[in-house]
Amino acid sequence: MESREKTLLRFTTTGSVDDGKSTLIGRLLYETKSIFEDQYAAIEKTSKRKGYDEVDLALLLDGLSAEREQGITIDVAYRYFESPKRKFIIADTPGHVQYTRNMITGASTADLAIILIDAENGVLTQSRRHGIINSLLQIPHLIVAVNKMDLVDYSECVYKNIVSSYEKFSEKLDIHDIVFIPVSALKGDNVAKKSDNMPWYDGATLLHYLETVHVTANRNLLDFRFPIQYVIRPNHGFRGFAGRITSGTISPGEEIVVLPSGKTTTVKSIVTHDGELSEAFPPQSVVLTLNDEIDISRGDMIVRKNNLPQVSNHFEAIICWMDEQAMSNGNSYILKHTTNNVKAFIPRVVYKIDVNTLHREKTDALALNDIARVEIKTASPVLFDTYRVNRGTGSFILIDPLTNNTVAAGMIRGVSRTIDDVIEGAKDKSVTQKKSPHTIWSGWNISREVRELRNSHKAAVLWLTGYSGSGKSTIARNIEKALFEAGCQTMLLDGDNIRHGLCGDLGFSDKDRSENIRRVGEMARLFFESGSIVICTFISPFEKDRATVRSLFPTDRFFEVHVKCDLEVCKRRDPNGLYKKALSGEIKEFTGISSPYEEPRNPEIVVETDLQSAEDIVARIVDTLKKERYF
Ligand code: ADX
Repeated sequence: MESREKTLLRFTTTGSVDDGKSTLIGRLLYETKSIFEDQYAAIEKTSKRKGYDEVDLALLLDGLSAEREQGITIDVAYRYFESPKRKFIIADTPGHVQYTRNMITGASTADLAIILIDAENGVLTQSRRHGIINSLLQIPHLIVAVNKMDLVDYSECVYKNIVSSYEKFSEKLDIHDIVFIPVSALKGDNVAKKSDNMPWYDGATLLHYLETVHVTANRNLLDFRFPIQYVIRPNHGFRGFAGRITSGTISPGEEIVVLPSGKTTTVKSIVTHDGELSEAFPPQSVVLTLNDEIDISRGDMIVRKNNLPQVSNHFEAIICWMDEQAMSNGNSYILKHTTNNVKAFIPRVVYKIDVNTLHREKTDALALNDIARVEIKTASPVLFDTYRVNRGTGSFILIDPLTNNTVAAGMIRGVSRTIDDVIEGAKDKSVTQKKSPHTIWSGWNISREVRELRNSHKAAVLWLTGYSGSGKSTIARNIEKALFEAGCQTMLLDGDNIRHGLCGDLGFSDKDRSENIRRVGEMARLFFESGSIVICTFISPFEKDRATVRSLFPTDRFFEVHVKCDLEVCKRRDPNGLYKKALSGEIKEFTGISSPYEEPRNPEIVVETDLQSAEDIVARIVDTLKKERYF
């Protein structure tokens, strides 16, 4: 009964060969009494026979390695254990070469990752690579366990050097929570019991941290995505569609649309082995029956009508290359994504990440273990979300059809829109872009690339969204000043100013706000194409309008900045006395009072003006652009 109320923590362990990962897992199983006495007796005996001083807990995991040696492919082995406080699932991702794929498949639902560093070896390239991958995978918590402290005489100095070297590196990564713990998995120091050998360490033990770390649900319950695995037709009377819910929830009666056909109907029932359900959610495997006969096959996707995934045969992704054979632009691969297999190729490597310095390098080739941002083209359109929004529909693997090897695992960043695509798109009638009749798009005579070269910096768009009074304009003005002083060509588009003139005909109804943002997006695009860094500051309260603006720019050039501030604080600040008027009813449709504000779901940057100073915020944003080499 008691264990029912326990929360569950999923974590992965990664490390280089011989850094003691098996021993650490063995130790955790042993200390939480998750192994049987006879298992312990058996490994105790083997350890003695081998002449070891200690019981070799890594032997507990030997069964698994034996299976592996026999050629049984196990991508990820899940191990379960529990302590009085929590239940745990470890996605144990086996050793060296294959690690990337396993990390990506095993870690994609992890709440936490442990990176092991051998105290004797210090920070290796491999340890950095694991950090990068965990950050790309957006694992919320990271523990760096500095292992084998017994072999360095429990030296505080050795530990501190490793911590400072890894900290310096990880600062540049998108990791929100990182802790360091000195341990000896072999002797048990700081794993479950506090070590007497390291009195200088006053932090938590590894197990204590695992038991108490705050786990937020990282499941996407908003966007319903149901990739069809099989069509089930046991008899004429029944037709169901089987699959696993990747994200979102669904109930009978709800209106759905089948992609790519676009046919709509409603859900009749949700069938499982244990009977029918009134609601289903991830990662449940269910069979859906529908109220209309629709032609559906494997690889199709059922979603909600007002919440569609992106559809494209050309997108950008971060991939980890994991084949001995180098990547070649001309090769064709099979892209496995949800339940869909489609032919794909890589027309361009946007950049490769230097694992040690995190610098971006220009290259055309990718070798084993390289991490790179690439463009991918597919033979038919893929239904996806960005990995940021949806891990299930945002990840994929590439297979070499000749060898059947998994050559890469990837995370989708977004639709790729080179200027050619934009021009193509404008030609394409299906694009919803507004255009006057009888007009023909002719592109620019001087390309943005040429303008960027002359400016010596990249064009980009910073889109600041937030309540009135949140501090958007102050931040935007100071960012522009800093960039201008650094020699950049800049432009500032500010809501209040744009509503003088260009948008002076618009009010504040939902429709007018959408039109306001649409015009501003188009204008930002013109400045962008002229090579400027464009800073836009608009309340822009609606997610769909911001998404439309985003879609006008290449994915790595658009930064949505959520300028967060508690509404109460905005009301108190009330710089122009508008909140007072809105509260008294004098101004209608005022954001936060009588008109809604939809928080950005996946902004590139979040700043909190009620907690951080404007100077710090400006410095952070300017630093980010500098680090990422925008100027
Ligand atoms: S948006 O919603 O269309 O993005 P925008 O950023 O252009 O708004 O303009 C917001 C500015 O208009 C605010 O900073 C505020 O000074 C002013 N304003 C006047 N009336 C309203 C209103 N009803 N709601 C929000 N802002 C208003």
